[in-house]
Amino acid sequence: MLNALTIDDLKRQARRRVPKMFFDYADSGAWTESTYQANESDFSKIKLRQRVLVDMTNRSLASTMIGQPVTMPVAIAPTGLTGMQHADGEILAAEAAEAFGVPFTLSTMSICSIEDVALHTRKPFWFQLYVMKDRDFINNLIDRAKAAKCSALVLTLDLQILGQRHKDIRNGLSAPPKFTLKHILQMATRPQWCMGMANTQRRSFGNIVGHAKNVSDLSSLSSWTAEQFDPKLSWKDVAWIKERWGGKLILKGILDEDDARAAADSGADAIIVSNHGGRQLDGAPSSISMLPRIVAAVGDRIEVHMDGGIRSGQDVLKAVALGAKGTYIGRPFLYGLGAGGREGVTRALDIIYKEMDVTMALCGKRLLSDVDQSILLDNPYAAK
Ligand code: FNR
Repeated sequence: MLNALTIDDLKRQARRRVPKMFFDYADSGAWTESTYQANESDFSKIKLRQRVLVDMTNRSLASTMIGQPVTMPVAIAPTGLTGMQHADGEILAAEAAEAFGVPFTLSTMSICSIEDVALHTRKPFWFQLYVMKDRDFINNLIDRAKAAKCSALVLTLDLQILGQRHKDIRNGLSAPPKFTLKHILQMATRPQWCMGMANTQRRSFGNIVGHAKNVSDLSSLSSWTAEQFDPKLSWKDVAWIKERWGGKLILKGILDEDDARAAADSGADAIIVSNHGGRQLDGAPSSISMLPRIVAAVGDRIEVHMDGGIRSGQDVLKAVALGAKGTYIGRPFLYGLGAGGREGVTRALDIIYKEMDVTMALCGKRLLSDVDQSILLDNPYAAK
């Protein structure tokens, strides 16, 4: 199986195996999807410098993200409902990431719980936090992440209110999913997916159900989620979360230089230049086009990571050349998961690794630490 050579091959395979409403959930952006598309297409405007007759033996893509060793600077991004792309999706992706030597980030909105993932992994994973109005619930979630020995908290800042995705609305997708006859027919055409779901023991939305006040089952989750995202979230909240957590803190969803400066002032360990994969503010610039300005603004004070639109190892290398110490993949790992479970996620990581390795060599570099703007012909997104 999985004779996939590119992330696009995995996407095609996932489309065939995952029910339409869940495939569309992964493969959609807000409103016109212009930011979602720009995230991908803006990478192609950056041209690489081909070099020859440079010693290309003994290459290494190894690096660190927030001081933690990584096989390559690519982490798995937090994504909600991952267990709906494939049964036990979060566990399988975490296992694949651990074996590959890259960080896995578990979303607050995951199907498998923090404890489920901890039970199946040996190395620490990262936990992504959405700040909800119910602060007792948040305190408890932070304590659960600590108890599970998570080695970083990724605090998402760009979802105080929920962006709108037309595909999800048209598909009638809600959290938790409520199945109509149309959905049941869609699922009936995906028998392997159905069999996996029938066999899983996992409790849905395990980070929330049974832990948040008045959310004892899936039917009470829907109204809770709708009113729990906190529009009043502020930098003061970042301070108390940092204090309560006490470990490595990464702030996700920074796309503006002033916000990046405030993030650096907050004492966090890293920021992720991100527009939530084009799922929140449609019309916002692509992440890669904002990266150089943000690196120029705060790169000497805080580690800068980025995500959004990475579909190849070349994209990762371009982001590193423009100053990213780390990158994250969302959809590429979801496509892999939908296409083939754990093996599919490994395939996605492997595709990116090999593309990166060959590209780095053809640009005349042997070590990731030698990669900088000298591998680019020019920088179309240079800070003014
Ligand atoms: C996301 N993203 C996201 N981010 C987050 O902080 N918490 C979450 O629960 C989710 N959920 C989520 C679901 C799905 C289906 C997608 C595609 C994305 C955003 C994610 O972490 C990341 O920022 C983007 O996915 C990066 O863009 P690419 O790699 O998907 O282009």
